[in-house]
Amino acid sequence: MSQLDFSTTLGNAWFPTPIFTASGCASSGKELAQFFDLRDMGAIVTKSIMTKPRAGRATPRMAETPSGMLNSIGLQGPGIDAFLANDLAWLVEQKARIIVSIAGETAEEFASLARRLRGVAGISALEVNISCPNVENRGMVFACHLESAQTVIEGVRRTIGGDLPIIAKLSPDVTDIVSIARGVIDAGADGLALINTVLGMVINPNTMRPHLGGRTGGLSGPAIRPIAVRAIYQVHEALPKVPILGMGGVSSGADAFELILAGASAVSVGTASFGNPTAIMKIQNELRQILTDKGFSSLREAVGFAHRPESSVR
Ligand code: SIN
Repeated sequence: MSQLDFSTTLGNAWFPTPIFTASGCASSGKELAQFFDLRDMGAIVTKSIMTKPRAGRATPRMAETPSGMLNSIGLQGPGIDAFLANDLAWLVEQKARIIVSIAGETAEEFASLARRLRGVAGISALEVNISCPNVENRGMVFACHLESAQTVIEGVRRTIGGDLPIIAKLSPDVTDIVSIARGVIDAGADGLALINTVLGMVINPNTMRPHLGGRTGGLSGPAIRPIAVRAIYQVHEALPKVPILGMGGVSSGADAFELILAGASAVSVGTASFGNPTAIMKIQNELRQILTDKGFSSLREAVGFAHRPESSVR
């Protein structure tokens, strides 16, 4: 029997396997590296980095919910200078494949981050996080407004230059995700990360007040997987040539397979890693087995398979 080709691409970036970390859930990989070799997964997607160090939102910042969790981190991070000197340098030393996620308060900040990253060796792609729900001003959720989303992506594209793939990370909290997806691709993105967390809230019945310091937070975990599958399916149907990095509640190989059938070319794992730091390896092994058992000779054959007519079902 021929070997499964498990590799994938996002724009011109090639990855030997399709399972990545999700931005924000594994920082820059140092903690995960205690459990497995970072080179054994597709790529690490770093926590979204901003121009300056940032303390993030008030605590508490997390809440467990049925089949999910809310986070209200608020883009805490060391800022681009420390990130380049410490985190990125360390990741390059590990020979990990790296997708750097960036976030800004304005389109200019995104462009200035792109300027700092231009020509830096060892980066496979840039994730442009225009969809963090944990900001005081909803106007800053660029991915909820077509023009703002396009302005950010155009600025990053112009600044970063030709070759580095740009992956725009979109929010599910919109009426028509396909129009935002089309808009950012027209503005210069090469691929899409679908989906960021879903805006939610928990009220503590004892205090009778919102539980999270930031009041609202982003819902992740298995509870949102059907939303991710729907968003990926809709976008892949409209834009079948655009590579999608899928994410949202993946905790098994079967979950990852579902996102791939919907149209994802690679899958990020986030919340599952909090409960099991080796979840990424488990999911990757399970996915490889499922693809083999289903008779696929490559991952690529399975991408978007759910869109094919019934007659082609294996
Ligand atoms: C956060 O730092 O608040 C989460 C980032 C995100 O969901 O994009």
